[in-house]
Amino acid sequence: MRLASESLLMELADRFYVGVTGDDALRAMYPDADLTAAAQHLGWFLVEFWGGPITYSKARGYPSLRIRHLPFPITVELRDRWLAHMRTAMAEVAIDEPDKAKLWRWFTAEAEALVNLP
Ligand code: HEM
Repeated sequence: MRLASESLLMELADRFYVGVTGDDALRAMYPDADLTAAAQHLGWFLVEFWGGPITYSKARGYPSLRIRHLPFPITVELRDRWLAHMRTAMAEVAIDEPDKAKLWRWFTAEAEALVNLP
């Protein structure tokens, strides 16, 4: 792994989705009643992107965030909500510096790139 560890990134994704569950605006975008699968997909994606096993690609196919988010109307408000939940989740998971700062910079850049509405 180039960053953190597989188990920490999976835990981060789980905690992030606990926040999403309590956020009506974000929660409304997810078709599934249960966000367990969504958390698992995010966790697998993070692990693969940061150099771990390629479980995401095997299970989900090509890992393009841009293409996969096109169906969703992502405003700056939703971006900020997404990032706020990720910031909370990151505070709860023991990822050491400098990995933590690197991960946060990457999340903010990716989230910005996914905004497709004003
Ligand atoms: C900017 C605000 C964002 C919003 C509103 C958003 C929303 C969503 C939604 C609605 C889904 C679909 C879930 C489903 O079909 O069950 C999704 C999937 C996903 N998101 Fe985001 N997302 C955002 C940013 C990000 C960022 C920054 C990342 C990663 C750094 C990310 C990673 C993923 C992954 C890996 C999936 C699963 C794709 C799949 O395999 O189907 N998202 N997101």
